[in-house]
Amino acid sequence: MDFTSVQHKLRNWYQKHYRPLPWRKTRDAYSIWLSEIILQQTRVNQGLPYYERFIQKYPEVKDLAQAPQEEVLKLWEGLGYYSRARNMHAAAQSIVEEHESRFPDQYAAIRSLKGVGDYTAAAIASFAFDLPHAVVDGNVQRVLSRFFAEYEAVNSAKGKKRFQALADAFLNTKDPATHNQAIMELGATLCKPKNPECDICPLAEACQARARAIQDELPVKQKK
Ligand code: ADE
Repeated sequence: MDFTSVQHKLRNWYQKHYRPLPWRKTRDAYSIWLSEIILQQTRVNQGLPYYERFIQKYPEVKDLAQAPQEEVLKLWEGLGYYSRARNMHAAAQSIVEEHESRFPDQYAAIRSLKGVGDYTAAAIASFAFDLPHAVVDGNVQRVLSRFFAEYEAVNSAKGKKRFQALADAFLNTKDPATHNQAIMELGATLCKPKNPECDICPLAEACQARARAIQDELPVKQKK
Protein backbone atom coordinates (compact mmCIF):
# COMPACT_ATOMS: atom_id res chain seq x y z
CA MET A 1 0.00 0.00 0.00
CA ASP A 2 1.06 3.54 -0.68
CA PHE A 3 0.89 5.65 2.46
CA THR A 4 2.53 8.77 1.04
CA SER A 5 -0.55 10.98 1.14
CA VAL A 6 -1.67 9.98 4.63
CA GLN A 7 1.93 10.21 5.93
CA HIS A 8 2.03 13.80 4.72
CA LYS A 9 -1.25 14.59 6.41
CA LEU A 10 0.04 13.14 9.66
CA ARG A 11 3.27 15.13 9.41
CA ASN A 12 1.49 18.40 8.58
CA TRP A 13 -0.92 17.90 11.46
CA TYR A 14 1.99 17.29 13.87
CA GLN A 15 3.92 20.35 12.72
CA LYS A 16 0.86 22.48 13.39
CA HIS A 17 -0.28 20.98 16.69
CA TYR A 18 2.67 19.46 18.53
CA ARG A 19 3.44 20.28 22.16
CA PRO A 20 6.83 22.03 22.17
CA LEU A 21 8.58 19.75 24.67
CA PRO A 22 12.29 20.40 25.31
CA TRP A 23 13.49 17.01 24.00
CA ARG A 24 11.74 17.75 20.71
CA LYS A 25 13.95 20.77 20.13
CA THR A 26 17.22 18.86 20.21
CA ARG A 27 19.02 16.30 18.06
CA ASP A 28 21.40 15.46 20.88
CA ALA A 29 21.21 11.70 21.43
CA TYR A 30 22.18 11.91 25.10
CA SER A 31 19.36 14.38 25.86
CA ILE A 32 16.86 12.33 23.87
CA TRP A 33 17.94 9.13 25.62
CA LEU A 34 17.56 10.78 29.03
CA SER A 35 14.04 11.99 28.15
CA GLU A 36 12.98 8.57 26.87
CA ILE A 37 14.25 6.76 29.97
CA ILE A 38 12.37 9.20 32.20
CA LEU A 39 9.20 8.90 30.07
CA GLN A 40 9.27 5.08 30.04
CA GLN A 41 7.10 4.91 33.16
CA THR A 42 6.39 8.57 33.90
CA ARG A 43 3.93 11.09 32.47
CA VAL A 44 5.22 14.07 30.52
CA ASN A 45 4.17 16.66 33.12
CA GLN A 46 5.77 14.77 35.97
CA GLY A 47 8.93 13.96 34.01
CA LEU A 48 9.60 17.47 32.68
CA PRO A 49 11.21 19.00 35.81
CA TYR A 50 13.37 15.89 36.27
CA TYR A 51 14.56 16.13 32.69
CA GLU A 52 15.50 19.80 33.20
CA ARG A 53 17.36 19.05 36.44
CA PHE A 54 19.30 16.13 34.94
CA ILE A 55 20.35 18.12 31.87
CA GLN A 56 21.42 21.02 34.04
CA LYS A 57 23.41 18.89 36.45
CA TYR A 58 24.81 16.49 33.81
CA PRO A 59 24.96 18.36 30.47
CA GLU A 60 26.91 15.57 28.77
CA VAL A 61 27.08 11.80 29.01
CA LYS A 62 30.51 12.07 30.61
CA ASP A 63 29.11 14.17 33.46
CA LEU A 64 26.50 11.53 34.23
CA ALA A 65 29.06 8.72 33.98
CA GLN A 66 31.37 10.40 36.49
CA ALA A 67 28.66 11.22 39.05
CA PRO A 68 28.42 9.08 42.21
CA GLN A 69 25.51 6.65 42.06
CA GLU A 70 23.94 8.04 45.26
CA GLU A 71 23.80 11.47 43.68
CA VAL A 72 22.07 10.14 40.57
CA LEU A 73 19.55 8.16 42.64
CA LYS A 74 18.91 11.22 44.79
CA LEU A 75 18.10 13.30 41.69
CA TRP A 76 15.79 10.49 40.53
CA GLU A 77 13.86 10.51 43.83
CA GLY A 78 10.10 10.58 43.31
CA LEU A 79 10.13 8.93 39.87
CA GLY A 80 10.19 5.34 41.14
CA TYR A 81 11.42 2.31 39.20
CA TYR A 82 14.97 3.03 40.33
CA SER A 83 16.42 0.33 38.07
CA ARG A 84 15.92 2.87 35.29
CA ALA A 85 18.35 5.26 36.98
CA ARG A 86 20.86 2.52 37.81
CA ASN A 87 20.79 1.16 34.24
CA MET A 88 21.10 4.67 32.83
CA HIS A 89 24.11 5.40 35.01
CA ALA A 90 25.78 2.12 33.99
CA ALA A 91 25.02 2.79 30.32
CA ALA A 92 26.61 6.25 30.56
CA GLN A 93 29.76 4.63 31.94
CA SER A 94 29.83 2.08 29.12
CA ILE A 95 29.46 4.90 26.55
CA VAL A 96 32.49 6.62 28.08
CA GLU A 97 34.52 3.42 28.18
CA GLU A 98 33.47 1.70 24.97
CA HIS A 99 32.44 4.58 22.69
CA GLU A 100 34.96 7.29 23.65
CA SER A 101 32.19 9.29 25.39
CA ARG A 102 30.24 9.68 22.15
CA PHE A 103 26.69 8.39 22.10
CA PRO A 104 26.51 5.45 19.64
CA ASP A 105 24.84 6.34 16.33
CA GLN A 106 23.97 2.85 15.08
CA TYR A 107 20.77 1.02 16.03
CA ALA A 108 22.43 -2.20 17.25
CA ALA A 109 24.85 -0.35 19.53
CA ILE A 110 22.04 1.82 20.91
CA ARG A 111 19.80 -1.22 21.49
CA SER A 112 22.58 -2.98 23.41
CA LEU A 113 22.79 -0.23 26.06
CA LYS A 114 21.49 -1.23 29.48
CA GLY A 115 17.82 -0.27 29.94
CA VAL A 116 17.24 0.36 26.23
CA GLY A 117 14.59 -1.88 24.62
CA ASP A 118 13.12 -1.92 21.12
CA TYR A 119 10.97 1.17 21.63
CA THR A 120 13.67 3.33 23.21
CA ALA A 121 16.31 2.27 20.66
CA ALA A 122 13.98 3.19 17.77
CA ALA A 123 13.14 6.51 19.42
CA ILE A 124 16.81 7.50 19.87
CA ALA A 125 17.86 6.17 16.44
CA SER A 126 15.14 8.11 14.64
CA PHE A 127 14.96 11.33 16.71
CA ALA A 128 18.72 11.84 16.97
CA PHE A 129 20.05 10.20 13.80
CA ASP A 130 17.11 10.00 11.33
CA LEU A 131 17.52 6.23 11.14
CA PRO A 132 14.47 4.44 9.69
CA HIS A 133 13.27 2.57 12.79
CA ALA A 134 9.58 2.68 13.74
CA VAL A 135 8.63 3.24 17.37
CA VAL A 136 5.91 1.07 18.91
CA ASP A 137 4.47 2.00 22.29
CA GLY A 138 0.93 1.83 23.69
CA ASN A 139 -0.16 5.00 21.90
CA VAL A 140 1.22 3.80 18.57
CA GLN A 141 -0.43 0.39 18.97
CA ARG A 142 -3.79 2.07 19.50
CA VAL A 143 -3.43 4.25 16.40
CA LEU A 144 -2.29 1.33 14.24
CA SER A 145 -4.92 -1.12 15.55
CA ARG A 146 -7.61 1.34 14.47
CA PHE A 147 -6.02 2.53 11.25
CA PHE A 148 -5.60 -1.05 10.01
CA ALA A 149 -8.60 -2.54 11.94
CA GLU A 150 -6.15 -5.04 13.42
CA TYR A 151 -7.75 -7.35 16.01
CA GLU A 152 -4.59 -9.22 17.04
CA ALA A 153 -4.06 -8.61 20.79
CA VAL A 154 -1.43 -5.93 21.36
CA ASN A 155 0.05 -7.76 24.35
CA SER A 156 0.41 -11.24 22.81
CA ALA A 157 3.73 -12.37 21.34
CA LYS A 158 2.13 -12.61 17.91
CA GLY A 159 0.50 -9.19 18.32
CA LYS A 160 3.75 -7.48 19.26
CA LYS A 161 5.37 -8.76 16.08
CA ARG A 162 2.33 -7.82 14.05
CA PHE A 163 2.24 -4.24 15.35
CA GLN A 164 5.97 -3.78 14.79
CA ALA A 165 5.45 -4.96 11.20
CA LEU A 166 2.54 -2.54 10.70
CA ALA A 167 4.58 0.32 12.19
CA ASP A 168 7.51 -0.54 9.89
CA ALA A 169 5.21 -0.60 6.85
CA PHE A 170 3.63 2.73 7.80
CA LEU A 171 6.92 4.49 8.65
CA ASN A 172 7.78 7.52 6.53
CA THR A 173 11.42 6.64 5.82
CA LYS A 174 12.06 10.10 4.36
CA ASP A 175 11.48 11.68 7.77
CA PRO A 176 11.34 8.96 10.44
CA ALA A 177 11.96 11.42 13.29
CA THR A 178 8.90 13.55 12.62
CA HIS A 179 6.78 10.55 11.64
CA ASN A 180 7.51 8.75 14.92
CA GLN A 181 6.86 11.83 17.04
CA ALA A 182 3.66 12.48 15.10
CA ILE A 183 2.12 9.03 15.46
CA MET A 184 2.89 9.03 19.21
CA GLU A 185 1.39 12.51 19.56
CA LEU A 186 -1.72 11.45 17.67
CA GLY A 187 -2.23 8.54 20.08
CA ALA A 188 -1.64 10.78 23.08
CA THR A 189 -3.98 13.58 22.03
CA LEU A 190 -6.68 12.58 19.45
CA CYS A 191 -6.71 8.79 19.08
CA LYS A 192 -7.48 8.31 22.78
CA PRO A 193 -8.74 5.07 24.35
CA LYS A 194 -12.21 6.58 24.87
CA ASN A 195 -13.97 9.13 22.64
CA PRO A 196 -11.27 9.48 19.97
CA GLU A 197 -11.57 12.77 18.08
CA CYS A 198 -11.98 11.29 14.61
CA ASP A 199 -13.62 14.38 13.17
CA ILE A 200 -10.33 16.30 13.40
CA CYS A 201 -7.91 13.36 12.88
CA PRO A 202 -5.45 13.63 9.97
CA LEU A 203 -5.72 9.87 9.36
CA ALA A 204 -9.53 9.78 9.39
CA GLU A 205 -10.18 9.33 5.69
CA ALA A 206 -7.99 6.23 5.45
CA CYS A 207 -8.82 4.80 8.90
CA GLN A 208 -10.36 1.32 8.68
CA ALA A 209 -11.85 1.45 12.17
CA ARG A 210 -13.59 4.71 11.46
CA ALA A 211 -14.96 3.42 8.15
CA ARG A 212 -16.48 0.46 10.02
CA ALA A 213 -17.37 2.40 13.21
CA ILE A 214 -15.40 -0.04 15.38
CA GLN A 215 -13.00 2.42 17.09
CA ASP A 216 -14.32 1.41 20.53
CA GLU A 217 -13.42 -2.27 19.96
CA LEU A 218 -9.74 -1.51 19.35
CA PRO A 219 -7.07 -2.16 20.43
CA VAL A 220 -7.74 -5.70 21.67
CA LYS A 221 -5.97 -6.66 24.88
CA GLN A 222 -5.55 -10.23 25.99
CA LYS A 223 -6.28 -10.99 29.66
CA LYS A 224 -3.11 -12.20 31.36
N1 ADE B 1 6.62 9.69 25.74
C1 ADE B 1 7.67 8.95 25.42
N2 ADE B 1 8.46 9.58 24.54
C2 ADE B 1 7.88 10.76 24.29
C3 ADE B 1 8.20 11.86 23.48
N3 ADE B 1 9.31 11.87 22.75
N4 ADE B 1 7.36 12.91 23.47
C4 ADE B 1 6.25 12.89 24.22
N5 ADE B 1 5.90 11.90 25.01
C5 ADE B 1 6.70 10.83 25.05
